[in-house]
Amino acid sequence: MRIQNVLLSVASAVLPLALATTSLFALPARAADAPLAAASDAASSAAAIDGDALISRGKYLAVAADCAACHTAGGGRPFAGGLDIETPIGHIVSTNITPSRSAGIGAYTLAQFSAAIRRGIRADGANLYPAMPYTAYAKLTDDDVAALYAYFSKGVEAVDAAPARQTALPFPFDIRRSMAAWNLLFLDSTSYRPVAGKSVEWNRGAYLAQALGHCQTCHTPRNFLMAERDSQALSGASLGAWFAPNITSDKATGIGSWTEDDVFTYLKTGHSSRISQAGGPMLEAIDKSFSKLDDSDLHAIAAWVTTVPPIKSGSIDKTTLTPAPIANDLREIDGSADKGALIYSDSCASCHQASGKGVRHLPPLVGNAAFSRPVPDNAIMAILHGLTPEHGQDMPGFADKLNDAQIADLTNFLFRQFGASDVQTTAAHVAALRAGGPTSPLLLLSRIGMAVGALIVLALGIAIGVRRKRVR
Ligand code: HEC
Ligand code: HEC
Ligand code: HEC
Repeated sequence: MRIQNVLLSVASAVLPLALATTSLFALPARAADAPLAAASDAASSAAAIDGDALISRGKYLAVAADCAACHTAGGGRPFAGGLDIETPIGHIVSTNITPSRSAGIGAYTLAQFSAAIRRGIRADGANLYPAMPYTAYAKLTDDDVAALYAYFSKGVEAVDAAPARQTALPFPFDIRRSMAAWNLLFLDSTSYRPVAGKSVEWNRGAYLAQALGHCQTCHTPRNFLMAERDSQALSGASLGAWFAPNITSDKATGIGSWTEDDVFTYLKTGHSSRISQAGGPMLEAIDKSFSKLDDSDLHAIAAWVTTVPPIKSGSIDKTTLTPAPIANDLREIDGSADKGALIYSDSCASCHQASGKGVRHLPPLVGNAAFSRPVPDNAIMAILHGLTPEHGQDMPGFADKLNDAQIADLTNFLFRQFGASDVQTTAAHVAALRAGGPTSPLLLLSRIGMAVGALIVLALGIAIGVRRKRVR
């Protein structure tokens, strides 16, 4: 009884969540489906008129939304699922979304498909975990949902096998119902509405970026319940092992100095004249999705993203960093020189040049964007695992050639020398990244946060149950 009271006072202290959970218990099963039926009628007549065009538009949208990034496992059949997505609360496995009636979504109606991708509700009524980016896809227009449905019904080959692994989260996260409370708090389920006074191109870019490209899924920091913090949109966030930098128009900490063309070229090829090369999840998104979009759509995204209001983040002010190339040949320095400098000379200078200025297709490290980040993670990940872009030359990985201490010394040297930055690292941090990413205080916090949230849901459930019994 006393424990219940304590939990209840915690619950009332966290008012918004408490509100959400009480309405959760009072909520009719699916309030949001009524308008979808109308959309379904309109769409099925459209499909009858021009089915093939609709399917190929759906295919293009599936590339823009990068459905394959999660639903096609490495080496697996297209869209057959089975990719293991690591989240702060455990492993979530993507499902089979081929039109197989037994193992996939072949039995989904348009309305059910729409509810899954825009509201995170499966055909059986259960909630999906937000590892499926339905908070972004919620902005999709009815027409585009119908096109995606046509493609996933008729343009994709059915695979009649469910993924070998299933999602199995520890208690209390295994309660899918708790996601309904989360949705009430954080899911804005209105389609994108064009902003008046902005050009057609700008609105197209905003729509593509927000609803399909889901830039915010990676670049927006999250609160302790793992929801995106809208007030900090696109100002940079850690994804575990990689850091998605600030891409607002702030000059000091974002990409305020990039032109539309810089962004266009980066999204198309993974390189920009701002000495930035995409690695990790960004390179994957570019190779599988952005580089395959029409140029006009990439220009539209660039037109929009360069106007995102500036948000200052972190402490590194790129405009005051004055990196310099190495003046004399490193091979001439004696044994007392910086350990990192010696490793650079041995392992890296053959490509990036002793001066760090690079040559032809081998990029300069002097002033490289990798060293203007507020964290050393991306540079360390590139050194550990290399980069294998589809467009351009590979950088080899050094995971089995250099140990953690050597990579730390090297990284510290690079940030000081080529970034003029005081970001530094330790062998322990390199070891954590080598093992797949650190359990950052933020991740720990989010895990505790979600546990507290789930406890409140539970406490309220018990309290309501007790009250109902008393009333009877
Ligand atoms: C970032 C990863 C990610 C991307 C991108 C993604 N999905 Fe998902 N999707 C998932 C995961 C994970 C699940 C399973 C979630 C769960 O079990 O709660 C899922 C579930 C689904 C489901 C529910 C199927 C079922 O019955 O379980 C549908 C439908 C779906 N996705 C369609 C799509 C479509 C269409 C796209 C592209 C427009 C897409 N997804 C993009 C990760 C992703
Ligand atoms: C799957 C996660 C993910 C998605 C989705 C994503 N990004 Fe990124 N982005 C990253 C990461 C990680 C980096 C850092 C890459 C590196 O340092 O090598 C990055 C880097 C960038 C950069 C380079 C910035 C700099 O200072 O060098 C730009 C520009 C960018 N992203 C724009 C976008 C846009 C626009 C979208 C949506 C259309 C987008 N990103 C979607 C993860 C993502
Ligand atoms: C065989 C040539 C080669 C060697 C050796 C090499 N690199 Fe690279 N490096 C490249 C290429 C090519 C790229 C650009 C890849 C791309 O465009 O995606 C690159 C990119 C980078 C980047 C930018 C990564 C990012 O995410 O922005 C860093 C940092 C870097 N190299 C550091 C190093 C260090 C440190 C070493 C030595 C341990 C090294 N490189 C050795 C060829 C090389």
